[in-house]
Amino acid sequence: MRNSGFTIIEEVDGEDLHDFSEEAWTVFNASRGWTNDLFAGSSIYLVAKVPTDDGEEIIGYTRMDIGRGVAYVASTIIADDYRRLGHARDLMLGAEILAREDGCHMMWLKTSEVHTEALKFWESIGFTLAATLPNFELGLTWYIFTKEL
Ligand SMILES: CC(C)(COP(=O)(O)OP(=O)(O)OC[C@H]1O[C@@H](n2cnc3c(N)ncnc32)[C@H](O)[C@@H]1OP(=O)(O)O)[C@@H](O)C(=O)NCCC(=O)NCCS
Repeated sequence: MRNSGFTIIEEVDGEDLHDFSEEAWTVFNASRGWTNDLFAGSSIYLVAKVPTDDGEEIIGYTRMDIGRGVAYVASTIIADDYRRLGHARDLMLGAEILAREDGCHMMWLKTSEVHTEALKFWESIGFTLAATLPNFELGLTWYIFTKEL
């Protein structure tokens, strides 16, 4: 690593960086014609429920992080006993509608070689493989899937 001889590198608390990072990114964003609010994001949680004797029960959910015209599907799981009944497909149909309403033109997610059911699931609802990342998280091969909305 190149060292100028007077640079001090130290680890700091994230909050200590707030003022510097805010200003530096504001200047950079302005130089690209962007405003900071373009980078604000939000998370949406959708749940799948089934009726029970005394009400209803959550049997699955998806979390989607939305920002910059893109929706990242961060987490999706259906309880073991309720798989292959179309719950995840329904969840993702709902997620797609909300993502579109929020101005997204694209959804994406990452999944891995050990998410065997998921690989088939995402393809079945129209996602396509955009990239393969060998030796990524946990040393596994991960796959990036995308879908144009
Ligand atoms: C992946 C997962 C969310 C799918 O949920 P699900 O409710 O069972 O999926 P659906 O019933 O909506 O399946 C829709 C279609 O996806 C495909 N599919 C889903 N699971 C499949 C499997 N195990 N094998 C083959 N195809 C499968 C099928 O085409 C299915 O349609 P069909 O049942 O009419 O043939 C679920 O298996 C799960 O929670 N897995 C563990 C957690 C996980 O891997 N999450 C995703 C992380 S990226």
